[in-house]
Amino acid sequence: MKVLRDIDELREWREDTGFDALRVGFVPTMGNLHAGHMALIDHARRRSESVIVSIFVNPLQFEDPDDLARYPRTEERDLEQLERAGVAAVFLPTEAVLYPHGQNDIVRVDAGPLGARLEGAARPGHFTGVATVVTKLFNLVRPDVAVFGEKDAQQVAVIRRLVTDLDFPVELAIEPTHREPDGLAISSRNRFLSEDQRRRAPAVHRALKRAAESLAGGHTVAATLAGARHWLGQQGFDVDYLAYVDDARFEEQTRLVKHGRLAVAARLGEVRLIDNLAVHSPSPAMPESER
Ligand code: PAF
Repeated sequence: MKVLRDIDELREWREDTGFDALRVGFVPTMGNLHAGHMALIDHARRRSESVIVSIFVNPLQFEDPDDLARYPRTEERDLEQLERAGVAAVFLPTEAVLYPHGQNDIVRVDAGPLGARLEGAARPGHFTGVATVVTKLFNLVRPDVAVFGEKDAQQVAVIRRLVTDLDFPVELAIEPTHREPDGLAISSRNRFLSEDQRRRAPAVHRALKRAAESLAGGHTVAATLAGARHWLGQQGFDVDYLAYVDDARFEEQTRLVKHGRLAVAARLGEVRLIDNLAVHSPSPAMPESER
């Protein structure tokens, strides 16, 4: 496995791989690799002949400096896992390599109105930070296919628009959310949960499932969301948002839509958990009165 730390090394590896010879799959990460990342890598392996992973904790997408400082960095363990997974190369740039002019006075890729909704409203600038670094990584790696996780569904929506609006010649592949047996979505942040918080944390996924059942049972979106927020509050969560949105624009919906999704962000003490669940409207063959 090649460990590439600067841009020249990366470009050289990419040229050696050949632009027409091998199909290159790319998995961008911020490290602290877990089973969810390994599933993305597996997915990339199935869709390509050579897999490259990047590890970069992107300061541009953290609006809270404490959150950035505490983000787990586990390079040695990550590299061992990637080696075992048969990854061809890993790109491990420093901030100075990716942002040689610093972070303030640089051109950024604006994630547009989609990037300002929901998670973007809770974390201003977050999706512009994601869109900027993903643009740089796509330009450097020039992958044929890039794999992202459905756990960050709004990020997926932003990257889909990035690819179509800025004409990146890359195929996107989305891997379903990986969960612990009790339903908790696997995330690097789970390690910050205390024992008691870890016991309560699966309630986030349970709230989404209960809400999906409530919608399927004919309850209104407003009543369903109010019920789910109240229930999460009772379980000790501070709910940042719990909304029903359309999958492409992440605009809040008051009725079921063809491609819809429940999305939630809730805090247990200092730990912020996010999750989502696709919930589509019933088949159009069903008369309106029966939905
Ligand atoms: O999902 C992540 O880990 C990050 O947002 C990404 C896509 C690697 C960009 O920094």
